[in-house]
Amino acid sequence: MKPEIFRTKSFVEDAAAFIESASKADIEQHGSFRIALSGGNTPRPVYQSLAVRDCRWSKWIITFSDERCVPPDSPESNYRMASESLLMFTNPGEILRLQGELAPEVAADRYEEILQSYASRPGEKRYVHDLVLLGLGDDGHTASLFPGTAALEEKDRNVVSNFVPKFNTSRLTFTFPLINSARRVVFLVNDEKKEPVIQKVLAGGHGLPAERVKPENGELIWFLGKS
Ligand code: 6PG
Repeated sequence: MKPEIFRTKSFVEDAAAFIESASKADIEQHGSFRIALSGGNTPRPVYQSLAVRDCRWSKWIITFSDERCVPPDSPESNYRMASESLLMFTNPGEILRLQGELAPEVAADRYEEILQSYASRPGEKRYVHDLVLLGLGDDGHTASLFPGTAALEEKDRNVVSNFVPKFNTSRLTFTFPLINSARRVVFLVNDEKKEPVIQKVLAGGHGLPAERVKPENGELIWFLGKS
């Protein structure tokens, strides 16, 4: 399926409105909204805009598409960024935090079990997100699926720890099988300096990790900010 691309001067508002609308439709349809929050800097204003909207937060089930291996109160923590901008103001129904404070393999195994238990409830083979948010790095990484790292080849698990040589540290990350099982995958990119890598990913054939985001039965959507 071809991606749907929204280039917008109202990046924050348009992305937040899209997420709000998706949540209302999904809660109406099946009683919950299963969303994976992305990390880094781009999503923060989108989460702040979401936080003041009238969503049925008690029906939201929050996961995280990746996490740094740090405690939740670390300035590096994606969970902390989401808490400061969204979670502490909205009190979502369930927050499934990646425990960055644990040994990476232990945290990944625990999250794998949690996602499998949540998937088994409706009889899913693999947890199906209603919406997975992703960012894009200059090197074409997404989540913590960096070029040349082992997690790129994971075909079975939903979540793994992934050693990233460029940072000389491990990260916790969704795998492509989990990402590509989502009903919607949305890239949020609000940096015109990333246009060259965006074009490469959209064109394909450059061997960049983000090129492998191809939802099996879901929609692929890009929100791209423009000045
Ligand atoms: C992380 C993110 C990562 C991020 C991109 C873009 O933990 O850092 O998951 O994949 O989305 O690196 O980051 P910016 O939004 O800060 O440009």
